[in-house]
Amino acid sequence: MKDRLIIFDTTMRDGEQSPGASMTREEKLRIARHLERMRVDVIEAGFPASSPGDFDAVRAVAGIIKDSIVCGLARANDRDISRAAEAVKPAKQSRIHIFIATSPIHMERKLRLTPDQVLTEAVNATRFARRFTEDVEFSPEDAGRSEPDFLCRVLEAVIREGAKTINIPDTVGYTVPEQFGVLIRTLRERIPNSDKVIWSVHCHNDLGLAVANSLAAVMNGARQVECTVNGLGERAGNASLEEVVMAVRTRQDIFPCDTRIDTTQIVPASRLVSGITGFPVQPNKAIVGANAFAHEAGIHQDGVLKSRETYEIMRAEDVGWAQNKLVLGKHSGRNAFRQRLKELGIELDSEEAVNAAFMRFKELADKKHEIFDEDLQALVTDESHAHDQGEHYRFVSLTAHTETGEMPYARIVITAEGKESRAEAQGSGPVDATLKAIESIAASGAELQLYSVNAITTGTESQGEVTVRLQKGGRIVNGLGADTDIVVASAKAYLSALNKLHSKIERINPQM
Ligand code: KIV
Ligand code: ZN
Repeated sequence: MKDRLIIFDTTMRDGEQSPGASMTREEKLRIARHLERMRVDVIEAGFPASSPGDFDAVRAVAGIIKDSIVCGLARANDRDISRAAEAVKPAKQSRIHIFIATSPIHMERKLRLTPDQVLTEAVNATRFARRFTEDVEFSPEDAGRSEPDFLCRVLEAVIREGAKTINIPDTVGYTVPEQFGVLIRTLRERIPNSDKVIWSVHCHNDLGLAVANSLAAVMNGARQVECTVNGLGERAGNASLEEVVMAVRTRQDIFPCDTRIDTTQIVPASRLVSGITGFPVQPNKAIVGANAFAHEAGIHQDGVLKSRETYEIMRAEDVGWAQNKLVLGKHSGRNAFRQRLKELGIELDSEEAVNAAFMRFKELADKKHEIFDEDLQALVTDESHAHDQGEHYRFVSLTAHTETGEMPYARIVITAEGKESRAEAQGSGPVDATLKAIESIAASGAELQLYSVNAITTGTESQGEVTVRLQKGGRIVNGLGADTDIVVASAKAYLSALNKLHSKIERINPQM
């Protein structure tokens, strides 16, 4: 029998460290449920000591997840460890993940500690964490730039203290696959008690090598990979869960292990995370990008029609692509709607949320004859956003006018804390005019960092999905909006971003 490759998802911790990807408690709960359904082994739900909000979110996740281990991150000090222990306590299976930097540059310039002091702190922290749980993971931060001799000393010591998983982070994405594979093999061979632990890796994607490095480590004995949905994460992100899982699954001829992931949940997970964070997935992204299974060249299309294996190494349906399935229409009832949401793995928190989403579905069905799974997902994401953020601002209506030779203008009606406001503005185009009109009411002063629009399905009838990124006072937020009218979608995306700015989500960066 093959070994199990443990999938440790850190979308809600490292993924959340992407600028603008902060998640609310409810959003984390939604993602956690999906990860559990996808059969992820370990869910790193957050960094409890970083903020009261993150503590609550991790605790809430720990309260509902039964089939995955729920993990909380902690720096190597008693306060962080106690907070993490407290937050994961309600979980059926829980883990504390401690980290401290071991590279010369981090020890000298960031921690201002000598290697011996770091060793002592690592040992003390592991001993302290073991008072709360048997399942303690230890990470020597920036291991990719640490000296192997020192790593061996630290890791042998923390294993003696009872760490059960040793995670080797390539924190700055500096290593290359062969070197990283050799590092894992060397540590396993040189550390006398290395057989007492599971070896794990956590690779960042600064050189685009996170997945390749993770897989090289697996070939050299790592049996846990830390990864994120859509490769979200600090800077260029982490190893992408879908790529790691599908590489191992597709190349069972060379990998000595496999995961227990239900791969049909991969595309829905990607959509969910993209919808919640407002980070669109690039069309050519492996596995989950819109073009990942699209064949453009005539020769390729011809080949695929004759025999799919000529140009496809995986089946789209195995990773959850529904192939633009027509699901519902104007006359579909509430039960069919609810049933389809269930099949898509979407759980709305309350009957009120189902009713609101159903109303929006009916509105959409009036405008668009064919409703696809993608439309339902966008619609529900919109609805859940609105629900979670307490909706300070709400879209009511929009009139936009464009005419060749005339200056475009827009008239917007929104509510702010339930009170209706209206405004008009001119702009270089209808979107510009609309956002200016909203800003004249909200007066947020936020800087627009990104505006992008994508078609959710195919054809001109498709809904447009707009992403807006705003920055204010050091905070970056992403807003998402979908509608058959892209100017309305833009207004909704802008309001969603403003609502996020309005809600207080605080988080500190654990790697600072
Ligand atoms: O990249 C990193 O080093 C981390 C650790 C906290 C594991 O995210
Ligand atoms: Zn990281």
